[in-house]
Amino acid sequence: MTNLTDKNAELLLRLIGKAAQIETLKKAVFSKSLAATVNKATLTLKAIGNEKVLQLESFCSDNKAKHKNIKFEELDLLAETIESFSQINLITTAGDCEFKRSKSGNTVLLGGAKLEKLLFSENSETVKTFAKVTVGSNNKNKNYILKGDEPFLKLLEVSDKNGRVYDKKQAKFRQINRFLELIRDVEHALPATDPLRICDLCCGKSYLSFAVYHYFAVIKGRQVKMTGVDLKADVIEYCSSVAKALGFDGLEFLCGDVNLYDTIDRVNMVISLHACDTATDIVIGKAIEWQADVLLSTPCCHHDLNRRLNCEQLSFIADYSMLRQKLCDAATDALRLKLLEANGYETAALELIDPEETPKNIMLRGIRKPFFDRNGERAQRLMAEYNEIYSFLLGESK
Ligand SMILES: C[S@@+](CC[C@H](N)C(=O)[O-])C[C@H]1O[C@@H](n2cnc3c(N)ncnc32)[C@H](O)[C@@H]1O
Repeated sequence: MTNLTDKNAELLLRLIGKAAQIETLKKAVFSKSLAATVNKATLTLKAIGNEKVLQLESFCSDNKAKHKNIKFEELDLLAETIESFSQINLITTAGDCEFKRSKSGNTVLLGGAKLEKLLFSENSETVKTFAKVTVGSNNKNKNYILKGDEPFLKLLEVSDKNGRVYDKKQAKFRQINRFLELIRDVEHALPATDPLRICDLCCGKSYLSFAVYHYFAVIKGRQVKMTGVDLKADVIEYCSSVAKALGFDGLEFLCGDVNLYDTIDRVNMVISLHACDTATDIVIGKAIEWQADVLLSTPCCHHDLNRRLNCEQLSFIADYSMLRQKLCDAATDALRLKLLEANGYETAALELIDPEETPKNIMLRGIRKPFFDRNGERAQRLMAEYNEIYSFLLGESK
């Protein structure tokens, strides 16, 4: 129990606490101050040593900023701050809400109930779909799986010889770290026996292949057989030489069209980062064909449906080019997930990194269900649903 008597203020405090605890809190902004000494305040997550805390930064009327670290179990200390402001915006990766206090003292919490439902959802899968924020600290890379000083990052020129990540490579560094976190989340679905067979399709310069190989072979000590495939001969040649220099014996790179690539091995995991347009469909097709245990694919651009969309009922959206692209992005990815589902995969659409960083940040995840009958009634029903949605969008059957 807090000493807040207002139920909206109390719910806001609970939402802040929960968002902090599951690391979805981006920030809370306190404005319209009721106190003469403070103009504004912001609240963010910070790492102090091994502990995560809430850091309140107050901007005072004497132009000075004050910082106060609040432990999660001391959340009630925020009650006084909540009572000192008339507007508080809570921004999380699961959604936002806005607290307002009128001059007469009445309060509202817009979006509060919806956010409460999401953050306190009993469905752990729902909670897993919220992107975790990067918790700032003096050492920015502290919570990442990769620290920056790994030899492959230096060879790929992501970091310098001291392990400092180059500024222009920070975004890529965050992407591959987050990708590794998502891989760590699905490790339970991979076999415990070695070798682990992994394919990175449309691997390009292969930052991801090297990172995943490093994760399993170096960090986890597993035997890994991994193949990266891409159309670009020069890039493949370069990646092969880097793998050799690192002594990554189980990592090979092949030049060619992923559509034509096949392997006699049982593939455990297919990964792909930003495979262009329909190349992502080919990647997903391969994962299904091989019945890979896990698929993790972050699509790139979505042009195909945008070109071919033919749906009168959706023209009220599609007639606006900006909205048409968003509609086609979402519909393409949803259709991909439906196809995976019809082929025996438990599916999820997750956030790779902060959408403010790149719009190409959706991660499509498929985990193969071990006892799914691909010819059974459920599979047929899901495939019929897939075909129905396909015809609805394109005005033609597949
Ligand atoms: C945007 S890049 C992404 C590269 C890499 N995964 C990354 O994230 O840095 C897309 C890559 O897909 C490759 N690609 C596109 N279609 C392909 C196909 N059918 N077969 C093999 N590679 C393909 C391109 O050559 C390009 O290197």
